[in-house]
Amino acid sequence: MVMVTAEIVGADGRTGNLSASPTRAAVILPWERPDSSGSDATRASEARLAEAIGLAASIGLVVVHSAIVKLRERRPSTLLGEGQAATQGAELAAHDVAVVIVDAALSPVQQRNLERTWNCKVIDRTGLILDIFGERAATREGTLQVELAHLEYQRSRLVRSWTHLERQRGGFGFLGGPGETQIEADRRLILERIVRLKKELEQVRRTRGLHRTARRRVPFPVVALVGYTNAGKSSLFNAMTGAEVAARDQLFATLDPTMRGLRLPSGRRVILSDTVGFISELPMELVAAFRATLEEVAEADVILHVRDIAHPDSAAQRADVIAVLEGMARDNTLGEDWPSRTIEVLNKADLLGGVAEVPARTGTVAVSAITGEGLPALLAAIDSRIAAGMETADYEIAPEDGARLAWLYEHGEVVGRQDGDAAIHVTVRLLPADRARFERRE
Ligand code: GTP
Repeated sequence: MVMVTAEIVGADGRTGNLSASPTRAAVILPWERPDSSGSDATRASEARLAEAIGLAASIGLVVVHSAIVKLRERRPSTLLGEGQAATQGAELAAHDVAVVIVDAALSPVQQRNLERTWNCKVIDRTGLILDIFGERAATREGTLQVELAHLEYQRSRLVRSWTHLERQRGGFGFLGGPGETQIEADRRLILERIVRLKKELEQVRRTRGLHRTARRRVPFPVVALVGYTNAGKSSLFNAMTGAEVAARDQLFATLDPTMRGLRLPSGRRVILSDTVGFISELPMELVAAFRATLEEVAEADVILHVRDIAHPDSAAQRADVIAVLEGMARDNTLGEDWPSRTIEVLNKADLLGGVAEVPARTGTVAVSAITGEGLPALLAAIDSRIAAGMETADYEIAPEDGARLAWLYEHGEVVGRQDGDAAIHVTVRLLPADRARFERRE
C-alpha cells in the first residue's frame, strides 16, 4: 500500500505521520531577492516567514526555531552556504528539532544532504504544502488529485537511499537503502499507480456535475470561506460559530471539523465550511491539487472571500483568489454566477482603526474576527445573499403529509398558505438545490 496523504516524506521517501504527537520543528526561509535590502524587502521576507510558520503549525508541528537566511548563491549540494548550514545546524540541535521546513524548492540531493548535515528530517515547500492538501482534501477528486501530485513529487525524489514503498504509516527508522533494482521496481510501481490514478480522475471528472445537487452531503445552505492563509478564516469561522456549541446539535456532530452549523439572524440554518488557505507563490505542480481541495466551494451557496485588509500584499492576494475562482468557473468546476454569490469580507479592520475606517464597496463587509466588530452586518449580508438566490414555488400538499410540510418550513420560507379540505396550498421560497431535492421526493 502506498501511503501518500497526511504524511511527511523525507528525502529517502520514508514517511512519518506527524499528527500523533506534537513534533518540534524549525522553519528556515532561504531569501534570495536581488533587492533584499531596505524595509520593504524585510517586511516581505518576514511576511513570507510568518506564512510558512503558520502553514507548519496547521499540520500540528510546533515551531520552536525560525530564521531567514540570505542566499548569496544557490549551492547545488545544500542550497545554503556551508557556514549558514552549520550555524543553523547548531540552532537546530540546541532547540532539539526533529523536522525542518526549508521554505524553498529543494532538489532531492539538497534535501538528503541537509538531512545528513542536520541529522533530522527536512521537508521543502512543496512537501509541506502537499501534506496540508492531503489532510484537507475532502472530495474524491480532491483526494485523487492530491495523491497524484504527491506521487509525482515522490517519483522525482527516488534517490539511492529510498527504502521501499511497502511501509506502514508513521514508520520512521529504516536505515540503509536498496540497490538500483529496487529503485527501478519502485519507480515502476509509482508510474503504474500514476497511470491508474489519472484514469480514475478522468472517470470522476466525467461524472462530476451530473449530480451536483444530489451529491450535496448536508441538508442546509453551505457558506464557504476562502482566502489567503493567515487572512483569518479560522478566526472568523470560530467567531461566527462561537456562540453555537456544535456538540449540542446532533445534526452537526457528524460533520468534519471544518464544517459547523450556524443560525443566521433570520433563523435560517446554514453550514459554515472552512477551506485550505491560499498560499503565496504556489508551486506550479500543485495548482491542480489545490484547486481540487476547493471543491467544497463549488457546492457553496455563498462564498465568503476573507481578506486580510491590513496585509501589505492585500490587493495582490485578492487578485490571486479571484483568478483561481475564475479559472474554476472557466472549466465548469464553479458555476459562472459565483460573483453574485460572493461576499468580500475585509477582515482585521481593528488593525486599521475599526470598521468605520475601512473603505467598503458594495458586496464587501468590513469586520474584525478578533473584536467581533462588523460580525452582525456580515451575518445579515449572508442572510440576504441566500434569500436573493431563492426561487418561489407552489405546492399542493395532502393534509396528512405533515412530514413534507414540515420539511418546507424547515428548509424554506413559507410566504403563503391556504388550507383546503383536499390539499394545503403552500407558496414557499427555496434554494434551487432544495427545490430540486423536494421535487425529486414527490
Ligand atoms: P490558515 O488556516 O493558515 O489558512 O489561516 P486562516 O486564514 O485561517 O487565519 P487564522 O484565523 O489562523 O488567523 C491568522 C492570524 O491572524 C492569527 O494570528 C489571528 O489571530 C490573526 N487574526 C485573525 N483575524 C484577525 C482580526 O480580525 N484582527 C487581528 N488583529 N488579527 C486577526
